[in-house]
Amino acid sequence: MIKINQKIDNPLNHKTECLILLCQEIKKPAGLVKEIDDQLQGAISAAFENKRFTGKPRQTLLLNSTGKASNILLLGIGKTEEVTAEKICQAAATAAKLLEKSKFKSVAVDLTTFESIAKGKSGLYGELAGAVAEGAGLALYHFDHYKSIDEDDDPPDRLEKLTLLTSSKARQTTVEKSIARAEKIVDAVHTARDLVSHPGNTVTPTYLAEHAKQMARKNKITCKVLGKKEMEKLGMGSLLGVAQGSDEPPALIVLEYNGAAKKKAPTVIVGKGITFDTGGISLKPGGSMDEMKMDMSGAATTLATLQLVASLKLKANVIGIVAAAENMPSGGAIKPGDILKTMSGKTIEVLNTDAEGRLVLADALTYAQRFKPKEVIDLATLTGAVIHALGHQAAAVIGNNPAMIQKLIEAGEATGERVWQLPLWEEHEKATKSSIADLKNIASPGVGAGTTMGAAFLKPFAGDQPWTHIDIAGTAWGFDRPYTDKGASGYGVRLLLSYLENSR
Ligand code: BES
Ligand code: MN
Ligand code: ZN
Repeated sequence: MIKINQKIDNPLNHKTECLILLCQEIKKPAGLVKEIDDQLQGAISAAFENKRFTGKPRQTLLLNSTGKASNILLLGIGKTEEVTAEKICQAAATAAKLLEKSKFKSVAVDLTTFESIAKGKSGLYGELAGAVAEGAGLALYHFDHYKSIDEDDDPPDRLEKLTLLTSSKARQTTVEKSIARAEKIVDAVHTARDLVSHPGNTVTPTYLAEHAKQMARKNKITCKVLGKKEMEKLGMGSLLGVAQGSDEPPALIVLEYNGAAKKKAPTVIVGKGITFDTGGISLKPGGSMDEMKMDMSGAATTLATLQLVASLKLKANVIGIVAAAENMPSGGAIKPGDILKTMSGKTIEVLNTDAEGRLVLADALTYAQRFKPKEVIDLATLTGAVIHALGHQAAAVIGNNPAMIQKLIEAGEATGERVWQLPLWEEHEKATKSSIADLKNIASPGVGAGTTMGAAFLKPFAGDQPWTHIDIAGTAWGFDRPYTDKGASGYGVRLLLSYLENSR
């Protein structure tokens, strides 16, 4: 991970490979930018004049310099009134990627622009400084765990150090705190990305359970793992049904973080942890089946979120539950038509073994009830249909409580991890009824609304307290943001942190 530190220094005198200047969208250079423009014999004002650079969000212009900084990167942050932490996060991510590609090793960014933007707005300066660190940290994620080092090849380009320049002792303390917080966030998101990026022959249900135990030990939270025997005792026929086609044993992972009074009802987060989804007997086609290693993204986000709330010492009670299994076809696998009995007592007719996520979640949601939750959030790569509906821009939210959904929408706007609500009507719930069991795991052909139908199936297991289902099939992988890359995004960690911090 890139090292981020801070220093009190005059940007005009700071020696660095490249100085990043945050530029508001203005007509011509002012303030510090003007001073540097003078050093550069008007190169910046020329760029403004011929509109090569205007300060629009995420716009960049890299210039040579003969000053203490060998290069200057102008980085647009848009109109003053429209600056938000998420916009800064995206701009910093864009700059970090560009500078890394341009082979810089150590760069600095001057934060004085934030002083005027945050004037009179308590906390904003620190928030914006944190966003710079967060954006750069998130953008420079690399998964090279399985690549051998070839002595003859050039080593890959890596930006190693970012220094945030401040102007006073008081600011320095603020920025220090912001960096520490950002590092925890980046670390958690990277943990989620790693878990998703590792292939299915590394990340098995047992691996997830081991990871959870280690993480719990480090963060002093409790972790309990239920194996096949315990699940049998509890009657989790639905989770066990999915697992029975695989040689990998399933795991139900339970993490408990207590940051508030014991008697305060917890938020329970439930994650789908299918470590590989072949579809089972309803086998998926071969093309890009490899991507189904990401079908434990809900689990990854759940584990990383627990890590993050514990490391930030959030004043809330949060429980994480992961339903982990591998969905494989074998002589012992469940077949279309099989009927499973869930922990809740309800029976399910399995009409398609590829709709396995809702089967494992059914038992995990029932298990969640024993914590008498204040609210339940489940995260799952549940349906391909959500990619048709929303692409890689937002996750779908469906639930039983409009106020809760509204808060999640706001957290999504604040963090860039957008969510978009889809409906769940009585008619959808009716379409989950089976003629020979209580429920069927897919609706009859022609019902459509694939993502909603996934949620409609989960609803009877979710309890009466506020509950929201988040379908992350389109955002956990290939989420389209400046601070993500192809592949695992770690989507949901920042969303849930923002939700939990603002809903207490
Ligand atoms: N894990 C898949 C959903 C998925 C699809 C995730 C694409 C990421 C990218 C899920 O288990 C699944 O197979 N869903 C089926 C449901 C259908 C059988 C009702 C689907 O979406 O086709
Ligand atoms: Mn499936
Ligand atoms: Zn799946």
